[in-house]
Amino acid sequence: MKKTILFFIAIIFSACSVKLIAPTESDVARVISKYPNYSLAQLQQGKSDYEKYCTQCHGLKRPSSKTEEKWNKIVPWMCKKNNEKPNLHHISDETQASILKYVITMSSAK
Ligand code: HEC
Repeated sequence: MKKTILFFIAIIFSACSVKLIAPTESDVARVISKYPNYSLAQLQQGKSDYEKYCTQCHGLKRPSSKTEEKWNKIVPWMCKKNNEKPNLHHISDETQASILKYVITMSSAK
């Protein structure tokens, strides 16, 4: 009985935690024509910005769960929502762009 309850708790938690895949050079290569001079370091920075800022209200959403078109609308919308709350870490325009490039790049990762 106790085991059954623990089992269900484990399922609920694992369903909420998205494991992000580690960006590689091949992800950068896929988008370099769209983002000239984009580097793996910048992509990794975008991942850490995403993890830092976008977990303040809800769990992480998988980058592949939305299309580029959707992310272009969602990220500015979410950053605006974030910046309306003075108790949260402020998201600068630069950080917003970094998050947006990261989710768009990784939305097409295999
Ligand atoms: C201030 C709290 C807050 C922060 C910070 C926040 N979100 Fe959200 N997010 C929400 C709420 C609330 C919803 C539910 C959607 C609604 O309001 O209709 C949501 C929904 C979403 C959705 C689903 C939208 C859809 O139409 O399917 C995505 C994707 C998302 N957030 C991504 C992000 C990203 C990326 C960031 C970081 C830039 C972020 N969120 C930061 C509050 C937040």
